[in-house]
Amino acid sequence: MSLHSNARVSSPIELIGNTPLIRLRSVEERAGGGVQIWAKCEFENPGGSVKDRAARQMILDALDDGRLSPGKALIDSTSGNTGVAYSMIGAALHIPITLVMPANVSAARKNITQAYGTKIIYSSELEGSDGAIVLVRELVAEDPDRYFFPDQYSNPSNPKAHYLGTGGEILEALDGAVTHFVTGIGTTGTIMGTGRRLKEHDPGIEVVAIEPDDSLHGLEGLKHLATSIVPTIWQPEGIVDRRMSMGTDEAWDAAEWLTRDEGVFVGHSAGANVAGACRVAREAGPGAVVVTILPDRGDRYFKPMKWERNYVW
Ligand SMILES: Cc1ncc(COP(=O)(O)O)c(C=O)c1O
Repeated sequence: MSLHSNARVSSPIELIGNTPLIRLRSVEERAGGGVQIWAKCEFENPGGSVKDRAARQMILDALDDGRLSPGKALIDSTSGNTGVAYSMIGAALHIPITLVMPANVSAARKNITQAYGTKIIYSSELEGSDGAIVLVRELVAEDPDRYFFPDQYSNPSNPKAHYLGTGGEILEALDGAVTHFVTGIGTTGTIMGTGRRLKEHDPGIEVVAIEPDDSLHGLEGLKHLATSIVPTIWQPEGIVDRRMSMGTDEAWDAAEWLTRDEGVFVGHSAGANVAGACRVAREAGPGAVVVTILPDRGDRYFKPMKWERNYVW
């Protein structure tokens, strides 16, 4: 049931946040039982992912203090979901959006952003998300008055969205009774903001960052920090208790369990998060209440057909 079921709104922006928590009983069994594992359904956001929260906060804060003003276009690099979020919010607020993304991101992501009217500039697929970051910095340096560059990797509004939203919502839904929070790191906004809010409530809540185990991995949205440009907002001291390495196969398997055993069809970073939550719950044993995040839905990774107006198949 959507928490918005009786709401009246005048913009999709108002539908962002207040996502439900789903209890993953089959994963609890895999963890040995006696534990609770809850996952926050971020795919329920109107743009389909957790990134709606960060995009909304970055745009609203910039409109507030004048960094984003009429005549300027928003430009940023994105692995996809933030781009969809910017595109949706940009369309709703009539702000032009330009995205720089690696040429090999999924066709679905490219097509969805373009459907909202967004302009895409492709960076080298060989350089991954770091190549997109470097190119967007060059474009902004060439024409600084033309663009507002939120830079999700260094913008404090990104973790702020999760501090104000995700973290507080988790505490409210579970009456503050949480023992562990486990989530993957991309820009690190989700873990930094949610982790800060949870630690403020109870410093004993263990916060675990899930990281791909290799620079070449299949977990879209997540970053292998050792071989990446480290986001400025990544300030783990006092917030992140430990980092957990996750293999692509284990994460993909967990995404499959969720789909087949729970009827929850999620993307691979959600699989990584749930596999991590399962490990943490197994280690902690009975009494643990582990919360994780389902950043997006699995069908985001399918290639759409009708979107392309290509009816020949
Ligand atoms: C599918 C997916 N999972 C996880 C993440 C990581 O979230 P964050 O950037 O808040 O660390 C992202 C971010 O882009 C994502 O798109």
